[in-house]
Formats: sequence, C-alpha cells, structure tokens
Amino acid sequence: MARVFVTRRPVGDGLERLRAAGHEVNVWPAAEPPSQQQLIERAQQADALLCMLSDRIDAAFLDACPHLTVIANYAVGLDNVDLAAAQRHGIAVGNTPDVLTDATADLAFALLLAAARRIPQSAEAVTNGSWGTWQPDGFLGTDLVGATLGIVGSGRIGAAVARRATGFDMRVLTTTSRGGTPLETLLAQSDFVSLHVPLTPQTRHLIDADALTRMKPTAILINTARGQVIDQQALIAALHAGTIAGAALDVTDPEPLPPDHPLTQAPNVLVLPHVGSATTRTRTRMTELAVDNLLAGLANRPLPHPAPTPAPTPRAPAP
Ligand code: GLV
Ligand code: GLV
Repeated sequence: MARVFVTRRPVGDGLERLRAAGHEVNVWPAAEPPSQQQLIERAQQADALLCMLSDRIDAAFLDACPHLTVIANYAVGLDNVDLAAAQRHGIAVGNTPDVLTDATADLAFALLLAAARRIPQSAEAVTNGSWGTWQPDGFLGTDLVGATLGIVGSGRIGAAVARRATGFDMRVLTTTSRGGTPLETLLAQSDFVSLHVPLTPQTRHLIDADALTRMKPTAILINTARGQVIDQQALIAALHAGTIAGAALDVTDPEPLPPDHPLTQAPNVLVLPHVGSATTRTRTRMTELAVDNLLAGLANRPLPHPAPTPAPTPRAPAP
C-alpha cells in the first residue's frame, strides 16, 4: 500500500481506482490551496503526488519529500514542476495531454470571438443600462472571414485552433520548427495572434515590447498558454498606447490576478481565470489520465503519459 497525496479534489471519481488498488489517498480538504509549507508537510510522507498547475514543485520541495516516486500533474503544462530536479531524484513525472486539446482550442476561439465582436463591452452595456438604442455603428467589431490568424506554437492545441479557424474561413499562419512562418512575419501579417507554446526559458517573454511593436495596430492578442509567455508590463503599455487593439487572456502572471492589477485597467482587455480545460468531461478525463500515471508509477511501470525528458542543461564550453 502506498500513500498518495492529492493537492485539490479533482473532477470525477477517478481517485476511487487508487483506493481500489489498495492505496491510501489523502486529499487536501480545503478549497483554498495549501501554502508551500503545508504542501511540503502533507507531501513529506507521500509516495505519490497528484498536484495542480498552481502548486510549485521545485527542487526545495522535492528535496523535502524523500518518499516520492511519482508525480502526476493535473495539467498538460509542466512549467510548475522542476523536471530536471525530479529526474535527479528518480521521480517519474506525468501530465494530461490530448484530453484537453479541444476544450482549450474552443476557449481560444471563444476569446477570439469575444474580442472580435466586443462581447464583454456590449453585454456590459445591456446590464449597466448604457445601451440607449440600436445604432448602425453600435459596438462595431471585426469580421473573421478572410482575416489572418497567426498561431504561435504548432503543438496539438495550436493545430486544433487552426482547424477551427479553417471553418471560419480565416487565413492561418503558424510558426513551426520546420518550414513555418517566421515569428516576425506572422506578427506583422496577423489580425489575431494566438499563443500555444509551453512556458520554457526560451518562450518566457516571447511576446515582448519589440514583438508587440511588430503587430498591426488593429490586431488582437490571445493567450491560452501561460501568462509569462507575454511580457505583461509591455502588453499593458502597448494597450494604452494603441500599439495593438486588444488582448484576450485566459492566463496571466500572477494567477490569480488581483482585481486592481494594472492589466485589468488597460483598455480592450478581457481576462479569464485560467479556464482553458474547464469542462466537466475534460476535467474528468484529466483525472483519469493522472490516476493512470499514478497507478503505473506506483507499480514501477513506465507512465502512460510521461513528461517530455527535460533538455540537458547546456554545459559551459571547455576553456
Ligand atoms: C492548463 O493550463 C494545462 O496546462 O493543463
Ligand atoms: C439584424 O438584426 C438585421 O436584421 O440585420
């Protein structure tokens, strides 16, 4: 029997399979996440961990948890886990790919449509009473037909967004490692730019002040990846200056974003509380994949959904 610590109750009844396999499952009982100290205290005795993207699984955490053999992250993104440190400790790490691709692509499109058609502003006008009358030029937005969508990142979610865009008769540009559109060209030509890269040292602040300057002043930036892919200070300045027309973001830095954060005060910005994979079916499937990973890891089998092997730390060139 192994001890499994689960940092927040996941959707569905997948944890029952762990109990049926004879494992002791402890779930953090509160809706509020554990502090880092509480996280370590609870995980210290555990052999396996089911954690959330909001939990920081860093080297100090891993050093403090000597019994851990497997970590299942309840997310596809793994930027919250120090994969190299986990590898050094011999801990298997898994994620939840594929099952959330469509839900996240749907949300990217929901953001795109909401920004293009000014849905938050027009809905607000109805509820706050400022909608005086139907006007020929009331709440004018942007057509999708014929517009260019630039997809940054060519993984599963980016490809799913591209399929949706085709249905809306958009022109699609993508950056790919081989033969795609160079980022500078994509930024210059796109009416909508949607981000679908994982957060890595290479993609941190990929969209910085320089990148924003390359975009059209009419363009809208959409982010369902990770907040830190955008230099948020530069984005706030760009929205105030009219460098780009708007931003629709499911992810920010930090999360949760304080309600009085300067980003929420910027013009033409729509911010959601990181809900890309938030459908009942998707979150239930994510639980199943995380449990599959834990059961395999606890049985000393390879994980069915393993984290990509971390890139080796570049060594200093020989003197
Ligand atoms: C959500 O952001 C995920 O990485 O699954
Ligand atoms: C819009 O409602 C129209 O009838 O054109």
